[in-house]
Amino acid sequence: MSESQINFKDYIRVIPDFPQPGIRFKDITTLLKDGPAYRAAIEEMRKAVEHLKIDVVAGPEARGFVIGAPLALALGVGFAPIRKSGKLPGETIEASYDLEYGKDVLAMHKDSIQPGQRVLIADDLLATGGTIATSINLIRQLGGEIVGSAFLIELSYLTGREKLGDIDVVSLVTY
Ligand code: PRP
Repeated sequence: MSESQINFKDYIRVIPDFPQPGIRFKDITTLLKDGPAYRAAIEEMRKAVEHLKIDVVAGPEARGFVIGAPLALALGVGFAPIRKSGKLPGETIEASYDLEYGKDVLAMHKDSIQPGQRVLIADDLLATGGTIATSINLIRQLGGEIVGSAFLIELSYLTGREKLGDIDVVSLVTY
């Protein structure tokens, strides 16, 4: 099967009532364990964003790492991790945010992005958009220019895209 024929939705397992009743969790581990499908997903994202002249990819832990880091490698650029509070050893900036379920604080190293760098944000999932809105806030505080965003999955019924304003959104699978 050629990469372009892959229907990525077929590789994503939907688990009802996880982590709370009523939430239909989109489990990407079933895609990640399939080498050709995983590679095809990253390659499709790379093709969709390569024209953006990206200097660095930024992605939030943990699932954002398994999309953002290989995408950065495929693009030949660096990766800036966005982590939960208390994990990064250097000087950080922080911002709090609401999740689809719960609340958390995200942090970035102050030197992870240089002012004026063209940044792509990557994550496995765009749900409410809270994680990405907070990531955008952090990247802009560091002087980064956000040139686009890329997701494996978009839950369009949660309208997270609205939080991205006029930032370009690439998503491979929509529910
Ligand atoms: C999940 C997912 C996205 C975010 C999407 O991460 O990986 O980062 O939620 O939701 P939102 O658009 O409503 O903010 P989570 O915070 O559960 O952390 P994990 O990747 O460590 O599981």
